[in-house]
Amino acid sequence: MQQHFQTLDALLIEHQSLWRFEPFFLCSSDSLPWLDSYPHLCEWLDDLSAKEIEHLKSHPRELSQKLLALVPECQDIEALTHLKPLELTGLTLNRGVDTGVPGRKLAQIVSMGEAALRHHQGTEWLEWCSGKGFLGRILASQSSQKVTSFEFQQALCDAGQREADKQLLPMHFIQGDALSETAKVALNPNQHAVALHACGDLHVSLMKKAAEINLPALTISPCCYHLIQDQHYQPLSTLAKQSMLKLSKAELRIPLQETVTGGERVKRHRFEEMSFRLGFDQLLREQLTIDQYVPIPSIKKSMLGEGFEAFCRWAADKKQLQLPEVDFTYYQSVGEKRYWDMEKLSLVQQLFRRSLELWLVLDKALFLIEQGYQVNLNEFCSKETTPRNILIRAQKA
Ligand SMILES: C[S@@+](CC[C@H](N)C(=O)[O-])C[C@H]1O[C@@H](n2cnc3c(N)ncnc32)[C@H](O)[C@@H]1O
Repeated sequence: MQQHFQTLDALLIEHQSLWRFEPFFLCSSDSLPWLDSYPHLCEWLDDLSAKEIEHLKSHPRELSQKLLALVPECQDIEALTHLKPLELTGLTLNRGVDTGVPGRKLAQIVSMGEAALRHHQGTEWLEWCSGKGFLGRILASQSSQKVTSFEFQQALCDAGQREADKQLLPMHFIQGDALSETAKVALNPNQHAVALHACGDLHVSLMKKAAEINLPALTISPCCYHLIQDQHYQPLSTLAKQSMLKLSKAELRIPLQETVTGGERVKRHRFEEMSFRLGFDQLLREQLTIDQYVPIPSIKKSMLGEGFEAFCRWAADKKQLQLPEVDFTYYQSVGEKRYWDMEKLSLVQQLFRRSLELWLVLDKALFLIEQGYQVNLNEFCSKETTPRNILIRAQKA
């Protein structure tokens, strides 16, 4: 894993000009950032039609192949980001255990539950940031062992406890703040800790506390890497601490920017909203000589239907700006052009999303190894079930 981390680290640093940017802001500049270093890539991007961009966004494999042909020095990226999917057979659930669990969530917790049960160490479970304890229910019913479900929201604790009691499951909810020192009261050295989609600092706090209290095993699927209290990512492992890669919060969002493959309505709304924002930005720059991006609050989707001019008047009102009479049609078309430029830049960045995610996950894995755990990294379900499908499995060596 050390070698894996170092190779990924080197690749991300060497090609940082291809992913360390925010497409929304960069698309306002007149030329692509790597015109000199990657002329063929720029020519290819320039020639892409809107239809081709949409197609590539929803066909990531085809996109990777095209990009790797233009940037062959990144060829290793596919092998470096490949994680073996766990071979799971599926669990037979006891009746009622899945009560109230939404469809896609059920597939995730069943897979994660099976993975945790397979490498179970200890005589109890700790479900970190449990929500209503869907995963805990599966673990309790399959293993008949005690589950402590730790969760911040009292309402979720109450709902989870009610359902667990109804099903006579040995579950106990504790309300508390996972980031506080006092959260340690929920941990003891007999527990195998599980955390499904505990965001940023929340899964990090579990790993640190678990190592301190010597928990025998952890099964974690991390998500929302940017939800941290610091302004920059705080590496955990020795190697990541030594890396030159200092990731900002904005960069920590990159792994989560999966292509939006919603229906036509979702796509249309996104196009309208983003192109309106970009067109309005251009208008402010040219007409009011405001050369910094002015953040505009979120807007009701239904208002987008009133058109670009109405959007500009609403946004100007929100920011208390006086709009001159302008050619709104012109700025709308500039916004649309910038939208497609932004999408082109996102295509390139997409090639590096998984690498960055794996860099973050490997940092956690290496930290756990340093704490005396044996660690495996796998995919526990398909990307369609959830794009956050990486599983860290750690057992005390
Ligand atoms: C993305 S949800 C995952 C819930 C559950 N594990 C699941 O997959 O269904 C994250 C959970 O973390 C809880 N949470 C957020 N901040 C927390 C904190 N500081 N301490 C404990 N739980 C927290 C949220 O209330 C939410 O239930």
